[in-house]
Amino acid sequence: MSNKKPPLVRFVCTHCDGQFSKWQGRCETCGSWGTLKEAVPTVENETRPVMPAGKTAAFSSLKKTEAHNHLSSGVAALDRVLGGGFVAGSISLIGGEPGIGKSTLIAQATLAIATGGGTVLYVTGEESPTQVGRRFERLAKKPLPDTLRFLDQTESGVIAATISSEKPTLTIIDSIQTLRSSGVAGEPGNPTQIRASASIVGEAAKRASVPLVLVGQVTKDGDLAGPRLLEHLVDSVLMLEGDRSQELRILRVLKHRFGPTEESALFTMEEAGLMELIDPSLRFLQERSAPVSGSIASCTLDGGRPIVCEVQSLVTPAGFGIPARRIVGLDPNRVQLLIAVLTRRARCPLSDQDVFVNTVGGLRINDPATDVPVALALASALWDQPVRERTMAFGEISLSGEIRPIPRLELRLKEAQRLGYTTAIVPAQPVSAPKGLTVLTAPTLAKAVELAGLKPIHRASSKRPPEEAERFFEP
Ligand code: TYD
Ligand code: MG
Repeated sequence: MSNKKPPLVRFVCTHCDGQFSKWQGRCETCGSWGTLKEAVPTVENETRPVMPAGKTAAFSSLKKTEAHNHLSSGVAALDRVLGGGFVAGSISLIGGEPGIGKSTLIAQATLAIATGGGTVLYVTGEESPTQVGRRFERLAKKPLPDTLRFLDQTESGVIAATISSEKPTLTIIDSIQTLRSSGVAGEPGNPTQIRASASIVGEAAKRASVPLVLVGQVTKDGDLAGPRLLEHLVDSVLMLEGDRSQELRILRVLKHRFGPTEESALFTMEEAGLMELIDPSLRFLQERSAPVSGSIASCTLDGGRPIVCEVQSLVTPAGFGIPARRIVGLDPNRVQLLIAVLTRRARCPLSDQDVFVNTVGGLRINDPATDVPVALALASALWDQPVRERTMAFGEISLSGEIRPIPRLELRLKEAQRLGYTTAIVPAQPVSAPKGLTVLTAPTLAKAVELAGLKPIHRASSKRPPEEAERFFEP
């Protein structure tokens, strides 16, 4: 087959990629039997339209004006999270559970922009214009500016056309789940409709250089209804998280094309809307005059910022059946693992105890550095001995009971010292301690227990014979 015109490819050998025009039982190239499969049909050269060559250009030739112009949202924390504000022609998605405060946050930003003279187009889909208007009035406490406009519409084509003709300063769609596109099958809210509608309005916003904000609901048991579905379509994904029964809210960045994704902001939901927590560390500590058992402070990182938090625990002898494990604000699997490590490595038998652990102030912590404080809180609760006063602990615990180094220890120690802590139990890692803070190194959990001033107590009531706990203890 040397110099002949190559055959029209209809079959390809799955073994050697040999190409054939007709099917045959044996591949002539590699000799395998039954390996020829139909090839994916390709457009023949003759029928393909001839395209002109594209024009290339140097990146350095791009005008400076094409750099991102940020539109301040008027909410300082939101601006920080967005790396300066909304970018012209960009699409941001704000996700979160229903009732968490997405509309409130957006309403605050919208009001600020409209009051400052920008026109904001608010597409109401989920709530009626009257409901949205009432929220605005409650937040503004004065007559609303005429630059704040609404469009009561769910057809994405109409919304896209409105954006193109009115070119507002900012467009909000609350929420993307309520949009539909004629010509696309299915009810509003189904994945095909959500994707089609988002790309239709997104396209119009990009062409008109209007920043677009999509609000998306997240269901409690997953993220089916929005954000994940649209992640590739949008430029930024923000998530508003928290517990609706508490007032704390955290705004995180999951994706951001125009800035850092490390940023986050903490808010409290108040009468006047979402208010940023300026000194979050103070909020997650419990005020008390005398030390109590079962509680210890640590410092976690949220979006690169140190936040001092407190872990509390209660341990009581279990009745019949499987001992209870109630964990709030921490990963339950991680706490189970720490209970096992404590039992086997630190003479702290918890297998016959009901265990309750929570964080103060509704903070959700997912930081391996809080392993040691959780373990110490449990040991302190079991033996009913308070942890050494004004002490913080840090470190990730391995299954062998050793304490592993953690990232950004110095930053955490500085925050500890700022809040008046005098002692820190830390992993064996190089660190320079801030003035006034005594740093104690604990290579193992057993050592951390000792440094925290806790003394193992043998309990006669334990179902487990004391020798067993003894046997596994490694000093
Ligand atoms: P909302 O923003 O409507 O939630 P989402 O859009 O995420 O579904 O607000 C949810 C809750 O916030 C609601 O129960 C009322 C409360 N809220 C306040 O506490 N203060 C306020 O100023 C506003 C506007 C709402
Ligand atoms: Mg809403």
